[in-house]
Amino acid sequence: MLIAIPDVLSTEQLEYFRSVMERSEWIDGKVTAGEQSGAVKKNSQLKEGSPEARELGEIILGALSQSSLFVSAALPLKIFPPLFNRYAGGQHFGTHVDNAIRAIPGTPVRVRTDLSCTLFLTEPDSYDGGELVVEDNYGAQEVKLPAGHMVLYPSTSLHHVKPVTRGARVASFFWLQSMVRDGGQRTLLFDLDQNIQRLSAELGLTHPNVVSLTGIYHNLIRCWADA
Ligand code: NI
Repeated sequence: MLIAIPDVLSTEQLEYFRSVMERSEWIDGKVTAGEQSGAVKKNSQLKEGSPEARELGEIILGALSQSSLFVSAALPLKIFPPLFNRYAGGQHFGTHVDNAIRAIPGTPVRVRTDLSCTLFLTEPDSYDGGELVVEDNYGAQEVKLPAGHMVLYPSTSLHHVKPVTRGARVASFFWLQSMVRDGGQRTLLFDLDQNIQRLSAELGLTHPNVVSLTGIYHNLIRCWADA
């Protein structure tokens, strides 16, 4: 399932991101790719672990921690520090699947990639192409979101980024390990939580049925989650 998380970053934050990225060093994107994905990856990236990438990554993670939609959809356990890429002049990323395990450089931490995240940083009308195409059970889905919006998609899916034929597409991308490994269980929990939110808005947080359903949600988390 693909889930869009709107308005992760504000207009002011996006302005700040652009000013920082303009004065940053961009390198060949193959450095963080595996063997197969490296063969089809044509883009540039902010240097991983550079002060700029770290600072902007922290802002993103701070914003996401405040997003109840993100937390409900992802149930994040470990998040890889955000990376940043840029496609221009026909650059693209051919069909691949993301590496299953990612070691966070300079730490003993390893992240199983359950969900892949793309946070768009440039407005869609400023470039042509650059759609993220994700193949899931329902066929191929194309994603091109406004700046500041993010998409979550299963890391198990084959996906590619279409060539950018005008302008530049800048995005942040990263992966996360969910507390709930199984995508089907995670989707059930997300649907249940969203319905509980709607019901509690209608009936109030203390309505006995809302309390009971909230209890069921937490007890399912107990069954399925690693913490
Ligand atoms: Ni990928």
